[in-house]
Parts: sequence; structure tokens; C-alpha cells
Amino acid sequence: KIYRASTTAPVNIAVIKYWGKRDPHLNLPTNSSLSVTLSQSDLRTHTTASCSPTYPPAEGDTLLLNSHPQSLSTPRSLACLTSLRSLRRSLESANPSLPPLSSYPLHIISTNNFPTAAGLASSAAGFAALVRAIADLYTLPQSPEELSLIARQGSGSACRSLLGGYVAWDAGHKGDGSDSRARLVAPRSHWPEMRAMILVASAMKKDVSSTSGMQATVATSSLFRTRAEVVVPREMAAMEKAIEGRDFEGFGKIAMRESNSFHACCLDTEPPIRYLNDVSWAAMQLVQGVNEKVGRVVAAYTFDAGPNCVVYFLEGDRREVVGCLAGCLKEGLVERVEGGVELEDGLE
Ligand code: DP6
Repeated sequence: KIYRASTTAPVNIAVIKYWGKRDPHLNLPTNSSLSVTLSQSDLRTHTTASCSPTYPPAEGDTLLLNSHPQSLSTPRSLACLTSLRSLRRSLESANPSLPPLSSYPLHIISTNNFPTAAGLASSAAGFAALVRAIADLYTLPQSPEELSLIARQGSGSACRSLLGGYVAWDAGHKGDGSDSRARLVAPRSHWPEMRAMILVASAMKKDVSSTSGMQATVATSSLFRTRAEVVVPREMAAMEKAIEGRDFEGFGKIAMRESNSFHACCLDTEPPIRYLNDVSWAAMQLVQGVNEKVGRVVAAYTFDAGPNCVVYFLEGDRREVVGCLAGCLKEGLVERVEGGVELEDGLE
């Protein structure tokens, strides 16, 4: 007999960035962050987890990502699998009639419908889908917030992809990380006019991974401390308020400032890290241009650890925003535009 569960998890794009770990081992961040979960119709990871007493034990746990075998014995994947197995084991000891799934090898098959590791938050959707699929396979009763503690150990930003809408990851204070988890700031329905569009400047794999980049920033950047201790706590509070009040002007200004602050810290790292390229800069200027033309903030850019530009805007301003940004596609400035995507409400 083969036991199986499938799920999809969406990408999230932070408007308050996670950058820096206070504990690399438990993957605890220096500062809190906040993201918007994008719709699964455009960008998502689909994952099927299966286990069976008939799978050859010698093979152990296996993972196929976009048809390529990947290791599940990295410390991050192991942290997730060990936590999930131990939750299943507690279920099994409380209820001996359950099949002993925790002792069977796991086979995971995962596919992204977007380029892996191109700064399109693939690790976020990847680990969120992995954790959700195994939790479903194991029929675990844990809430998405509780599962976020596990996904966080796979990849920090993944903890935010277990919830839909507007999601915070509270850094927490505890040494064991038990308060470092995702929290729903507002469901998608709170601000349903919000849209995101991705200007793909390059779908190539990035040179400096987020994990090693942020470690280098923590070790060498003097701007970083002020950012983590002063700037982010202030912006985080203001962003939650802007979302609560559906204030796009506030939301947009904070998002753009935050992106700039994060990339300034990257440049302040030794040796400097540069994720933005000329196309990214052109995209920033385009966004600024639309806002100036309309006379208010109708579009907001943000960049993760890569050159691709994510633009947030409201449905009511679609014509101005898309009209202007479509121009850059025509001029061959960007490879392609993903979306006009809607946001996601939550995982099924
Ligand atoms: C710039 O979550 O990829 O996208 O925890 O080391 O896996 P690890 O890092 P990761 O970092 C994401 C950084 C970011 C900002 C963000 O998503 O908040």
C-alpha cells in the first residue's frame, strides 16, 4: 500500500525584508518581516509526498525537484523531516491503530512553475509545500502557524508561505525559537484590490544565495545593526498600520524604502553584494515615473535577492500602472512580465 498527499504552496514577496540570522542553526532571524502571498495560478510549487512499507529502505527518503534528484539529508531538510516524523510518532503512540507511517521512507516529488533560485522566492514555496504535503500525509492536527515553525527551519521565508494574505514573521525573543513564527496580519479579503506583477529582469540563478549573503552582511555591514534595531521595527509597525487602514500610499512608500534599505546593506557588505542590475534600476525609475505622472503613489517596487522587480498596485490603478510597465516589455527591457497576479487566501 502507498500513502500519498499532494499540495501546492504559493510564493510570497516580502515588503519588510528578512535579512540576517540571530541563530543560523535554528534559522532565527535578526528582525521581523512581512510579506504578501501571491496567487498560485502564476507562481507556485506543487508537491506530492508519499510513503510505503514497500519502498526500499536502503534508498531512504528521496526528493525529485523538477525531475532532478536532490538530497534530503541537508541539515535544513533533515530538521523539517525530523520534526514532522516526531509529530507523527506522537500521533501513532496515542492511537496504536494508525499505520506506522513515521517509520516508512518518504518519496517527495516537487515541481515549480517558475525558475528555481532566480530570486523568485522558490525556496519559500518549496519548503512550505514540502512541510504541508508531509503534514497532510501524516494527518497532523497542527495549525499553519504551528507548521510555520517547522517550515522556518527549511528556509526562513517559507514560514510565511503557509498562510495567505498579509503575513508577518515575528522574529521572537526566545533562544529555542518557539516564538519565531508566522502570524496573519490580514486575510486577502481585507484588501482584495491588491495586485502584484513581476518584471523578470533575469531568470538566471543568482550568484550569492540569500543564506550566505545575509551571513556576510551580519558579519561585516555597519549599516545592518541600525537597520535591524531601529529601521525595521519602525517600518514594521507602520506597515501593519498601512495594511490595516488600506493605505496604499503608506504601503508603497514603506515597501520601496524597505527594499532600498535592504539593498543598501547588501552593498555595505564586504565584499559588496549586488543583486540589482541596470534593468532593475530602469524598473525603479519607471515606477517612480508613473507615480509622478499620476501625482500619487499608485505603484510600489520591491526586490528580493535578485534583479527581478515585483510591483504592487491596486486594481483601480491597473490601466496606468500596466500601461507604463508594459512599455518596458515592448522596449525589450525585461524578459517577460508575470502576472497582474491576484493574491492568495491560504492553503487548502
Ligand atoms: C531577500 O528565506 O531564502 O527574500 O532562511 O537562509 O533560506 P534562508 O533565506 P531565505 O531569505 C529570503 C530573503 C529575502 C527577503 C524575504 O523574503 O524576507
